[in-house]
Amino acid sequence: MVSFKINSEQVAFDGGEDTPLLWVIRDHLQLTGTKFGCGIGQCGACTVHVDGVALRSCTTSVGKIDGRSVTTIEGLANLDDALHPVQQAWLEHDVPQCGFCQAGQIMAAVDLLKRIPKPGDADIDKNMKNLCRCGTYVRIRKAIHRAAEIAAGDDS
Ligand code: FES
Ligand code: FES
Repeated sequence: MVSFKINSEQVAFDGGEDTPLLWVIRDHLQLTGTKFGCGIGQCGACTVHVDGVALRSCTTSVGKIDGRSVTTIEGLANLDDALHPVQQAWLEHDVPQCGFCQAGQIMAAVDLLKRIPKPGDADIDKNMKNLCRCGTYVRIRKAIHRAAEIAAGDDS
C-alpha cells in the first residue's frame, strides 16, 4: 500500500508499486488534467510536482512517492481559487493552441520561477524542455516573463 498527499488530500493506492504515477493520477484518482504524451520521459506532458519539484510522472513509479506530496495542475490555484501567477499570465497571453501539452508546460514554468524568480530568455530556453507540437514556445516565453512580473506584484 502506497500512501501520499495529492493536492493536499491524503490518498492511498494498493495496486503494484511499479505502477507509473501518471496512471494512478489519471485512472485511479481521476485527475485527468495531467496528460499522457510519450510515456518515456521525453515530452513533459505528464509533469507534476513532487515535494514542490517538477517531475515526469510517466516514468516515476508510484512506490517512490510513498509519504510524499504531489501537486497536479488541479491543485495549483490557491485554496480560495485564486489562479497562480503562471495561470494568470497564460490567460493574458492566450498561450494554448490545442492545449494538450499545457498543463505540463505550466507545471514546468512554476518550477522554473521558484528556482529563478526573474528568468531571462536564456534561462527559459535552458529550463523549459517540455515539447509543444503546436509550437507555442514564443507565447510560453512571453507568459513566463509576465508571470514573473505578476509574482513580483506588478498587476498592471
Ligand atoms: S508522457 Fe511523460 S514525458 Fe511524455
Ligand atoms: S498547445 Fe498543442 S501541443 Fe502544445
